[in-house]
Amino acid sequence: MEPLIELHQVTVYRGQTKVFDDLTLVVPSGQQTAILGPNGAGKSTFLKLITREIYPAVRPGSTVRLLGRERWNVWALRRHLGIISHELQRAYPDHVLGLDVVLSGFYWSTGTWPHQVFDEAQRQRAWELMALFGVEALARVPFGQMSAGEQRRCLLARALVHDPDVLILDEPTNGLDLAARFAFLEMVRRLIVQGKTVIFVTHRVDEIVPEVAHVVLLKDGRVLAAGSKAEMLTDERLSALFDVPLTVLQANGYYQVVPRGAALSHLAGGEEG
Ligand SMILES: Nc1ncnc2c1ncn2[C@@H]1O[C@H](COP(=O)(O)OP(=O)(O)O)[C@@H](O)[C@H]1O
Ligand SMILES: [Mg+2]
Repeated sequence: MEPLIELHQVTVYRGQTKVFDDLTLVVPSGQQTAILGPNGAGKSTFLKLITREIYPAVRPGSTVRLLGRERWNVWALRRHLGIISHELQRAYPDHVLGLDVVLSGFYWSTGTWPHQVFDEAQRQRAWELMALFGVEALARVPFGQMSAGEQRRCLLARALVHDPDVLILDEPTNGLDLAARFAFLEMVRRLIVQGKTVIFVTHRVDEIVPEVAHVVLLKDGRVLAAGSKAEMLTDERLSALFDVPLTVLQANGYYQVVPRGAALSHLAGGEEG
């Protein structure tokens, strides 16, 4: 099967910074994937490359294949992708009402504008999705007055208006409390069960739902390692990824990390010195 996403020897500059230098990264199709890495690894840059908000440097042998194709009309491509990012939530204007947040997904915009026309089917789709994620009552509530969890659920509905096959989540539970995080992840899991392919782009191990099978470890714009979740989420690999000694814990299909060893003794020693 063709990979879902295939970057081959891709170089990307953002301003003067070379974020990716000859990066090769494959997201297989037919399974859920997590791209895990510390801040600054290039995760959001990867996402923007996929949605064609930024473009790679033109180099011989450099290719970006998405859903098996190299050439895409950007709008056609975006209909295949549902995106939620922490950045989008931050950038989203406070005054936009819940229903318009969802409708704005049809135009990939933040908020709706007078020149944008929505037909009955589109409005109905928006209402259906709001009901699905339990945010119907927020249709007339401004984005800025919603809780972070409610905002995130409206953005999930927004991401799904085109019924995309692939959902890409960039730090999707950032800023949510435990209950809101778990509720959000359960909704995403339900979408996976219904057949969506989800790519989790994150620095948080605890955002990786049990259904994720493939993990790509990204650090300093490079793939440190990629493979099955069990092979990737080990003490050794994650300590190297985050540059801190840590222990990986696992329960109910989820993972969590804690600092390795009894760290307090050396802290106390340092205080004295
Ligand atoms: N607009 C920008 N201009 C210049 N450098 C940028 C810009 N955005 C990101 N970078 C740099 O690119 C690198 C990767 O950033 P990013 O993709 O946001 O990482 P992540 O999402 O993994 O935290 C970082 O070194 C960051 O400083
Ligand atoms: Mg990021």
